[in-house]
Amino acid sequence: MSVNYKVEWPMNLKALDPLEAKQPDVDDGLDVVDPARYYSREFMAQEWQKLWPKVWLLAGVASDIPEDGDYFTFAVGPEEFVLVRQADGGVKAFYNVCPHRGNRVVLNERGSVPRFTCAFHGWQFGCNGKLERITDQETFDPKLIAHRPGMTEVRCESLGGILFINMDPKAKPLQQSLGLPEGYIERYQIDKMNVVHHVRTTWKANWKTGVDAFYETYHLPWVHPQTQTVMEDFSQYDLYPNGASRMIVPLCVKSHRVADQEGVDPYLSFMLKEGGIDPATFKGSAREVRAAIQKSKRARAQRIGLTHYQNFTDGQLTDSWATGLFPNVQMGMHPEGVFIMRFLPHPTDPETFYYDTMILYRYVDDPDYTVPAWMGLPAGIDVTGETRPAVVHVPPGEKPNLGDVLDQDSELLPVQQQGLRSRAFKGPLWSEQEQRVRHFHKELDRYIQGLK
Ligand code: FES
Ligand SMILES: [Fe+2]
Repeated sequence: MSVNYKVEWPMNLKALDPLEAKQPDVDDGLDVVDPARYYSREFMAQEWQKLWPKVWLLAGVASDIPEDGDYFTFAVGPEEFVLVRQADGGVKAFYNVCPHRGNRVVLNERGSVPRFTCAFHGWQFGCNGKLERITDQETFDPKLIAHRPGMTEVRCESLGGILFINMDPKAKPLQQSLGLPEGYIERYQIDKMNVVHHVRTTWKANWKTGVDAFYETYHLPWVHPQTQTVMEDFSQYDLYPNGASRMIVPLCVKSHRVADQEGVDPYLSFMLKEGGIDPATFKGSAREVRAAIQKSKRARAQRIGLTHYQNFTDGQLTDSWATGLFPNVQMGMHPEGVFIMRFLPHPTDPETFYYDTMILYRYVDDPDYTVPAWMGLPAGIDVTGETRPAVVHVPPGEKPNLGDVLDQDSELLPVQQQGLRSRAFKGPLWSEQEQRVRHFHKELDRYIQGLK
C-alpha cells in the first residue's frame, strides 16, 4: 500500500524544464519520531558524534573573500573554522584552533591578513595553515615540535560561488553529497552576487524546530495570513537524494483559499510595479499577474543585458525556489538574489539555535532595476557590493527585523518549542505538505543510526 496520500494540488506548474519539473515521489514512510530529538542533550550529543562531523556545511560565500589573505570565520556548535583565500585563487579551511594550547587563532568574523598570529603567545601560521614561527622556539624540546604543527585543515569545496566545509576526510565529494541535480545552483550565478545584509538572531528553539518551520508553506494561512493575496501556499514539493529538497512557492498569485481570484489588490499591484509594470495601466485580472510579470522581467533583462536570464524558466522569474540542503540550510533562489538561511546549533543548549541569514544580491546599475521587496532590506543599505556589511547580531527575544513574515516565525518558534517538551506530545504528524520535513528527518535518522 502506498503511503503517499495523493491530492490534487491546485497549482500545477506543469513544468518541463528538468530542474523545475515535479520530482518523482519518495516513500519516506509514516514514522512518528520521538520528540526528544528536539530538546534532549543525549540527542544533541549524538548529532555531535554522528551528524555534524560528517556532512558538508555551508560555510559562506566566495565573493566575501575575493583577495589573497581575505578570510572569514564560520562557527557551528562548539567548532569554529576559518576560510581563507589562497595566493593561487583557491580557498582553504582550517579549524580555528592554535596547535600550541588551543586558543582561537582568529578572533574576528572577517578580515585580511598576510599571515595568522595567535594572540596568546604569538605563534604564526601562513594563510596556507603552515607553521611559520614559534616564539622562543629554542625553549622547546625539538622533539615536541618536530612535526611543525600548523593549523588543522578541513575539506573545503565550492559550488557556484558558495563555500562548504566538511570535517570528514572520507566524505563523498560535495556535488555528490548535496543531492541536487547538476546545474541547479549554478544557474543563478551566485558568484556574481554579494552579501548585502547578514543577520544572526538567537532563537529559543532546537535548530530542527527551525528547519521544520521553514520547510513547509502549510502554516502560511495561519502564521502569515498577509501572504495569501500574493502567494500560493500549496507549493510544489520535491524530494532529492541525501535529504535535499525543494519547494516551489508560486508568487504573484493569490492563494487558492482566497475567494476573489480576479481583483488586483494592493499587494499584487506592488508586485506588478516591482516587475516593471505600471499597475494603473494593467488591464488584466489577478490570474494574469504572474505571467505578465514574467514577461516584463524577461524583456527588462534583455534590455539591460542580463543574458543569463535566458536560462531561467518563466516560473523562476517570479516564484521562490526554496531549496533545502541537508542538514541545516535553506536557500530562497531568485534571479535577482538569493536568501540563505542557516540553522546553527548552539554549542551547549539543545533548545537554542542561531538563525543566520545572508541576503545576496546581484547589483544592476540601471534605473529600471530595483532591489526586490522580498529581500526585506532595511533602508540605507549599500547594495552595490562594494562594502561587505558586518554581521548584525540580534539578541534572544528580539525580532530579527527581517520583515513581518520572519518576525512572525520568530514569535512562533519558542512557543512551539515549549509544547514539544510536553509529556502529552507524542511526536509530529506530518502531512504531504510537510513531506520535506519528513524527508529531512529520515536522512537525519540514517546518520544517527550510523547508516551514513
Ligand atoms: S595558544 Fe596560540 S601561541 Fe599559544
Ligand atoms: Fe513562517
